[in-house]
Amino acid sequence: MNYLLFFLLVTVTICQDEYGCEDDCECSDILDFFWMDRESILYTEEAGCVRNITCVNTGQTFVQFFYNESEIARPVDSNKDYGHAMSLNPEALTSDINIFEFFGMVCENKEWYITKYPRGILYQIATGEEIVIGANGVFDGKKSKIHDYWWLIV
Ligand SMILES: *[C@@H]1O[C@H](CO)[C@@H](O)[C@H](O)[C@H]1NC(C)=O
Ligand SMILES: *[C@@H]1O[C@H](CO)[C@@H](O)[C@H](O)[C@H]1NC(C)=O
Repeated sequence: MNYLLFFLLVTVTICQDEYGCEDDCECSDILDFFWMDRESILYTEEAGCVRNITCVNTGQTFVQFFYNESEIARPVDSNKDYGHAMSLNPEALTSDINIFEFFGMVCENKEWYITKYPRGILYQIATGEEIVIGANGVFDGKKSKIHDYWWLIV
């Protein structure tokens, strides 16, 4: 084989596999969803749409989603059209978490979704009481479009 051609092929392959060569993620800047200070997040962009969004987990971080944009059915007693994917872990309140990994965030058709619910979802019923379901991971694999993404420090 012609050496130049060989060199080009190798370069193109490395380029596609490891570096992406340009930002080939078609989703918006995921940090736009955050209500928190960007300075308190350790953020890195990896190949494609993989991100590392690491911050201290106070248990107050959640992802809000609407049931009409989710594969999770609205609980019959929910009095709101949205729910929250929770992060609260009573045993590890101040450990660092990589939220991207924790909630299984993915980019599809230019939209960000979560696909993991390790602490279940929280919703409100008519009395104002808040209920958490699915903390055993039963919702894992279901897609929900990310709507708002909050971080409230208590
Ligand atoms: C994500 O970033 C944090 C903070 O910089 C780092 O400690 C952690 O190892 C990273 N995780 C991955 C999977 O790269
Ligand atoms: C889902 O409901 C919310 C709140 O009513 C609305 O803002 C949003 O546009 C709806 N999404 C779709 C896909 O209908």
